[in-house]
Amino acid sequence: MTRVLVTGGAGYIGTHTCVELLARGYEPVVVDNFVNSTPEAIRRVSRLTGRTLTWYEGDVRDTGKMAHLLGKHECRAVIHFAGLKAVGESTERPLDYYSVNTLGTHALASAMLDAGVHQLVFSSSATVYGEPVFLPYTESHPLQPTSPYGRSKQAAEMLLNDIAASGAMRDIAILRYFNPIGAHPSGLIGEDPNDVPNNLMPYVAQVAVGRRPFLNIWGNDYDTPDGTGVRDYLHVVDLARAHVLALDRFRHTHGPVTLNLGTGHGSSVLDVVKAFEEASGRRIPLRFEPRRAGDIAAFWADPSLAEETLGWKAENTLEDMCRDQWTWQSRNPLGYEAA
Ligand SMILES: NC(=O)c1ccc[n+]([C@@H]2O[C@H](COP(=O)([O-])OP(=O)(O)OC[C@H]3O[C@@H](n4cnc5c(N)ncnc54)[C@H](O)[C@@H]3O)[C@@H](O)[C@H]2O)c1
Repeated sequence: MTRVLVTGGAGYIGTHTCVELLARGYEPVVVDNFVNSTPEAIRRVSRLTGRTLTWYEGDVRDTGKMAHLLGKHECRAVIHFAGLKAVGESTERPLDYYSVNTLGTHALASAMLDAGVHQLVFSSSATVYGEPVFLPYTESHPLQPTSPYGRSKQAAEMLLNDIAASGAMRDIAILRYFNPIGAHPSGLIGEDPNDVPNNLMPYVAQVAVGRRPFLNIWGNDYDTPDGTGVRDYLHVVDLARAHVLALDRFRHTHGPVTLNLGTGHGSSVLDVVKAFEEASGRRIPLRFEPRRAGDIAAFWADPSLAEETLGWKAENTLEDMCRDQWTWQSRNPLGYEAA
């Protein structure tokens, strides 16, 4: 059994990835400080998979603890999800974002080298690209992130590429996620932000169950087909699968790689709302607000390198994403809290 340390493994993408890891013969060891999650999420993964998960409360910036866990469990690889991810908040708390996202990656990489672990899959983001020079974004698109969040991820990427170039760590997969939404079809795990959701889909879902009165749409005068922002939404289970494939690849191919993970198609805010209304049978009241500073009108991925490199392709449609999001939210209207 190949053990993998999963930082931030109690979070949204982390829990879904633990399910896929277990299904493919890997054994996740989770470490999370629960700043945006709860141990109940890990218990749900156990319920869903019928397997007991090993987990620890800990901060990824604690190099000693990370090195200890890597050694204790003889981990062969790390998947590094732990991070702060709210673009707006990052402009108010840049120190925290650089501390967790950039210095946390530094601390973890140090722990890996101390423990002799040389395989890392890192959660990066499409926000590293910034204002599009061309679309779809390919991995060689210039990097001009427009927020401290994006820059904290870019800085972590630079650090990891330099470590790879030095020869100290051979196998690094930097995965640039577009916009993951949806949930595991079981309805047992899903996105459950501790605060007011920053992303569209959890907000829409919370409006649908009556936790919030309406959805604010920031800008309907963009140069897009219906005036609202366009993003490349992908199903979180498709995204989770890519992490397992990245680990599989390390078995036979070495060296660093940076890959976009998206569907290659953009959907507008109104497309998502309409698809969600159809999936849920609920109406989503809308309120149009002015554009938010720093928001980009439209972007989507060229995911062809991920297909070439990992044999990965997003399979689920927007309808699938909305159906599964609704299953999760309608069965867990208060998220994990009620449990
Ligand atoms: N969800 C998205 O839209 C998206 C898009 C692009 C990139 N990402 C990146 O993917 C990763 C996972 O995102 P997610 O959506 O699952 O977010 P999430 O907030 O659900 O998960 C992150 C997890 O990391 C934990 N964490 C935060 N700081 C920590 C620390 N210092 N030490 C240990 N644990 C810590 C949180 O408690 C949480 O469980 C993040 O790095 C995020 O930046 C997410």
